[in-house]
Amino acid sequence: APVKASESATTGVFGRGRAAIAARTLRNDRWWLPPLVTVLGLAAFIIYATIRSFVRTAYWVDSYHYLTPFYSPCLSASCVEGSSHFGQPIGHLPMWIPLGFLVLPFLLLFRLTCYYYRKAYYRSVWMSPPACAVAEPHAKYSGETKLPLIIQNAHRYFFYIAVIISVINTYDAVISFHSGSGFGIGLGTVIITANALLLWAYTLSCHSCRHIAGGRLKHFSQHPVRYRFWTVVSKLNTRHMQLAWTTLGTLVLTDFYVMLVASGTISDPRLIG
Ligand code: FES
Repeated sequence: APVKASESATTGVFGRGRAAIAARTLRNDRWWLPPLVTVLGLAAFIIYATIRSFVRTAYWVDSYHYLTPFYSPCLSASCVEGSSHFGQPIGHLPMWIPLGFLVLPFLLLFRLTCYYYRKAYYRSVWMSPPACAVAEPHAKYSGETKLPLIIQNAHRYFFYIAVIISVINTYDAVISFHSGSGFGIGLGTVIITANALLLWAYTLSCHSCRHIAGGRLKHFSQHPVRYRFWTVVSKLNTRHMQLAWTTLGTLVLTDFYVMLVASGTISDPRLIG
């Protein structure tokens, strides 16, 4: 239950029934290492993704139809020729608005409200608490019952939007099988396709997806299709944390590779065409 400010000094590890220990923690192992690594990993991704989303250069390789996921779908008249797979219903955008502005906030909200990322940043960024048996610095605790954290409950709706975005990423992967004159496969095709598949794995391993698939059923035997889907999702779900980090990595790798090829820094090794 939410704690009133007047009670805050007497709750948690400082509560009346708890032993009065001056030390912040009695742990003497390196409990601070996992939260530190998490902060560094998340910060590196956010800095990279923010810079790349704003620069508006080297995001589309016309000869091989490679589009970076950070600019997909590219719906503005400011997008370079060929990169708008779904038309350009939005006019020109000023430089301070990223070309992927329609999709990036939802991707961010999907990940920010993800059960795994919550665990990661509640411990590392918010330190609530930073580790088992380490007292948190905050005096008050209201859980996810108030703004802004009550928004975490909307995760299921961000999941639905993430599914649509995964379909768009799949389309981008399909059209990357291109050689300039027809069908072709290059290293970029492999990277973009692997990224799309892993994004599907991450999205489908979502805890909300698992509940949508098999939750609120009284008898699995009466819902064989949902039961099968739930079984697959449950297996993926055990790897949700690994998929969360892997896809952060493959998103950066895919974008970085497209940037290298689009800017002419490297040429794309071709397997076919
Ligand atoms: Fe992580 Fe839904 S719980 S994406």
